[in-house]
Amino acid sequence: MDKQKKFYVTTPIYYINDVPHIGHTCTTVIADVMARYRRLKGDSVFFLTGTDEHGQKVAESAEKDGLEPQVYCDKIAPRFKKAWVDLNIGFDFFIRTTDSRHKKVVCDLLQKVYDNGDVYRGKYEGLYCVGCEKFLTESDLVDGKCPIHPPERTIEQVEENWFFKLSKYVPQLIKLIENDKTNYIFPEGKRTEVLSKLKGGVNDISISRANVKWGIPVPWDKTQTIYVWFDALINYYSATQFVDKKKDFWPADLHLLGKEILWFHTVIWQAMLLSAGLFLPKKVYIHSFYMIDGQKMSKSLGNMISPGQLTDLFGIDGTKYLIMSSFPGENDSDVGIERFKEKYTADLANNLGNLISRVAKLSEGLSFKTEKVGVFDKKFDEFFEKFDFCGAIKYIFDKWIDTSNAELNKIQPWKLKKDDKKRVEVLEKCVKNLRKTAFHLSVIMPSTGERIEEIFEGEIKALKNPLFPRIKK
Ligand code: MSP
Repeated sequence: MDKQKKFYVTTPIYYINDVPHIGHTCTTVIADVMARYRRLKGDSVFFLTGTDEHGQKVAESAEKDGLEPQVYCDKIAPRFKKAWVDLNIGFDFFIRTTDSRHKKVVCDLLQKVYDNGDVYRGKYEGLYCVGCEKFLTESDLVDGKCPIHPPERTIEQVEENWFFKLSKYVPQLIKLIENDKTNYIFPEGKRTEVLSKLKGGVNDISISRANVKWGIPVPWDKTQTIYVWFDALINYYSATQFVDKKKDFWPADLHLLGKEILWFHTVIWQAMLLSAGLFLPKKVYIHSFYMIDGQKMSKSLGNMISPGQLTDLFGIDGTKYLIMSSFPGENDSDVGIERFKEKYTADLANNLGNLISRVAKLSEGLSFKTEKVGVFDKKFDEFFEKFDFCGAIKYIFDKWIDTSNAELNKIQPWKLKKDDKKRVEVLEKCVKNLRKTAFHLSVIMPSTGERIEEIFEGEIKALKNPLFPRIKK
């Protein structure tokens, strides 16, 4: 038998001082869906998520709360973990960058980079955005400030720092990306964006901070701490080094992230790995952003949507369905509570939910020998390969749900006698379709998938309660 294929998938590790919102939820849900999909294909999966806990931003939040940074982190770290557990996200490990095992791997890796001659002392003079925890370059600026965070988060910075020879790796990276046959930066638009920025010239980067105490000390210079991004990116590798039996899981098969952190993941991270002599990740998938009713989501606008708000209204599976069917792939996706309500009602309550109730009621007492589905449809696989989740969902609805509704409306089995051949045939066909739907949708809605299977696998009983209760207005 073939050796089981491994599949290692990651989400960004989220800044601990944030409150989990629909943006974080989006990336975490697709990671969960990919993990479930690969598990069902028989792969050996490692799904990693976690929190980014060092740096100036977290130190400032801790100070505001009057707490030592570590105490503050320990107090609020469970917030993200709980959000994902509450959403039935099947992560295998939750990494925190304040974990001493992670810190050790970071120091070892940085030491390797240093020993390789890729670190030197220099002076950093420029702008820094505390919101992004990022040294800003000319091309990052809009009106002289970071466009993502409030203007006061952009600060002047003059420091003696340790620098990483990023520029040394640029020719190698260009070659790698140009000759890449596997589309390791996906989608294509992002690959071209990275290439053209690389060709436009790249400076070395500062990888330590003199005035930020909350971080991992630089191994050979304890007066400085390691720059939070250098520390954070290593989480993807470090977890494989200390989580039981995961050593062989490096390199990651798939890093998932939002578009604002593309450069860190496709250039800086790759150069760090090249310098340390480690394998590069196999694929980096970059998605766009959710907008809320036409506006950027922000604390100051007060328009953040939390995962808890969604599960209260739509249940766990309903929430995941809505996230996936409005997924911001190549373009930003505009969402809002009202539109989610409409979509839930149309697709789940009125369409799928209603079909299940109807078929179960009409087939009460019958049992069909349709086989349990265990293999994904080829076309569905193709949608997944392109990260086209909306396409995959539409495919399920078109192929199995809408056709079942159409057949039922054509044959009108409720008008036929119980043992009429046509009636039995059409119901059997619907049950077959629903079991296919259950299997394919289970990567997004695992409990719903199981529930549909339970209803239709043996002797069928009418439902006591609908699968997707209507939302009260
Ligand atoms: N801590 C860094 C990541 C370090 S990874 C080594 C960070 N954290 S974050 O808390 O700001 O999370 C950023 C990620 O959250 C984005 O890359 C994306 O995955 C997700 N999103 C944040 N806002 C989003 C939207 N409005 N829409 C969709 N996803 C977004 O950056």
